[in-house]
Amino acid sequence: MAAFSAEFRWFVQNALFPILFFLLQVLNGPSSVGDMSSNSNAYVDKQGPTSHPAASSFEMTKNTKNQQNDSKGKVKDKPIQGEEKNLKQSDQATANASSSSLWGRENGNPMTLAEQEDQPDDSKEKAKDKQEKNSKQSEQVTKHENSKSSRGEETMSPADQACNYAKGKWVKDNRRPLYSGSGCKQWLSPMWACRLTQRTDFSYEKLRWQPKNCIMEEFEGSKFLKRMKDKTLAFIGDSLGRQQFQSLMCMVTGGIERPDVLDVGWEYGLVKARGAVRPDGWAYRFPWTNTTILYYWSASLCNIVPLDAANPATDHAMHLDQPPAFLSRYIHMFNVLVLNTGHHWNRGKLMQNRWVMHVGGVQNTNRKIAEIGQAKNFTVYSIVRWVDLQLPKYPGLKAFYRSISPRHFFNGDWNTGGTCDNTTPPEGKEVLQDESSDSVAGGAVKGTRVRLLDITAPLELRDEGHISRYSIRATPGMQDCLHWCLPGVPDMWNEMLFAQI
Ligand SMILES: *[C@@H]1O[C@H](CO)[C@@H](O)[C@H](O)[C@H]1NC(C)=O
Ligand SMILES: *[C@@H]1O[C@H](CO)[C@@H](O)[C@H](O)[C@H]1NC(C)=O
Ligand SMILES: *[C@@H]1O[C@H](CO)[C@@H](O)[C@H](O)[C@H]1NC(C)=O
Ligand SMILES: *[C@@H]1O[C@H](CO)[C@@H](O)[C@H](O)[C@H]1NC(C)=O
Repeated sequence: MAAFSAEFRWFVQNALFPILFFLLQVLNGPSSVGDMSSNSNAYVDKQGPTSHPAASSFEMTKNTKNQQNDSKGKVKDKPIQGEEKNLKQSDQATANASSSSLWGRENGNPMTLAEQEDQPDDSKEKAKDKQEKNSKQSEQVTKHENSKSSRGEETMSPADQACNYAKGKWVKDNRRPLYSGSGCKQWLSPMWACRLTQRTDFSYEKLRWQPKNCIMEEFEGSKFLKRMKDKTLAFIGDSLGRQQFQSLMCMVTGGIERPDVLDVGWEYGLVKARGAVRPDGWAYRFPWTNTTILYYWSASLCNIVPLDAANPATDHAMHLDQPPAFLSRYIHMFNVLVLNTGHHWNRGKLMQNRWVMHVGGVQNTNRKIAEIGQAKNFTVYSIVRWVDLQLPKYPGLKAFYRSISPRHFFNGDWNTGGTCDNTTPPEGKEVLQDESSDSVAGGAVKGTRVRLLDITAPLELRDEGHISRYSIRATPGMQDCLHWCLPGVPDMWNEMLFAQI
């Protein structure tokens, strides 16, 4: 019942409003109606982000972009040519703006990397991935190092300083989930929609994070869109960043089908390359508020450049001290930026992806940095510092680094029969520590204007919220105790984000 009334509210806010707007357009004049309806139809037919837009739908998207809103609020045609020119100019301007630094080259072959991204359980990795455990350990060794870590003092507004959102507890709430796991088909990958699997317990959907000493503003899609009017939110990170992206799309729409939302991936070069399984990311725009939400796949948060662009099997320079080219290229267009990395930092993944560590533009010879945990720490510090240095140039930008999302393999690891079978939500457990459980993230943001989205300790309590044995991809006997069921735990990351933008 509660879910129904929430959905009904969403329908009124998000579906009814566009319909009314459409009717207004009808009254406004026949030419705009023609544009409107043909575009809407195009999007009814269009596939969601879980499938892979074909070249033809890319064309369709491009044509749709031809529709523009002028200052009088009318839909108006605008020549594509001029727009592409503008886009090219802005690209040029970015290139010029960053020409003093080393940044700016495009990723090598991220498609194959993206393909591997969502398969932490790929059995091919087995042999190479033995050291994952080691890197996990080194992550934890660092746990209590920065005793005076980074909550509060580096955040931007005084209001935030009062609240450490990571302290608190999970409480049952019948107003959860915020969208339906079987309903949000437009944005949710089936592999993460546990409602579509054999799973029968859904108590994990009913939990809300309650910070200890402060009220976390209740998420409302309409409020979010209003606040993000004419703004762009970008997630850049690994598959857990993609989970947060899909979660946000479902939260904003309430899981209700939204044919009016535009696919604007092409504006950011996010189109499927020939032979690729999927594009490097996705970008969607809510036309009524001109709000863009995008995700770009960067597992390591550093610049990956093929050593020999002509050879597909080449090694790739992994520039630990350079941001992903996508970020340096488009940062001027972002108003909210959410970064994450973590689970790709192990020897197996590096070898498999043929990533060779580089520092200062040359192959790394520093043995200390070569150690995986150190390399990750070095990279996280580098990217946070780089973003911090950009912030004065973009006063409208709020940047967040999301701390690591913990794994919960019990009695083994992902490839040795590890499980996360528990279905009982945490009870009576509270996070009381002041410091982040992710000391690398905590240390990196300290003294910068980059804010920490500190989710680690709260998530350590949520071993029952993973995909577990219900993973569509996992082979029998293997479980996904890394990714989370959606709706579920990642929704909280967006609630925490919403409270701070
Ligand atoms: C067009 O812009 C006007 C004025 O900024 C705004 O009121 C209206 O909602 C916009 N319409 C669309 C379709 O974005
Ligand atoms: C970028 O730099 C090039 C070469 O220096 C120059 O020709 C071009 O006008 C610049 N573009 C912008 C948008 O500043
Ligand atoms: C991470 O790198 C920073 C900056 O070099 C350093 O101060 C910090 O001690 C390192 N942390 C760990 C856990 O190695
Ligand atoms: C939408 O927002 C962008 C900034 O993100 C702005 O440049 C653009 O003019 C806006 N478009 C409309 C139609 O208002």
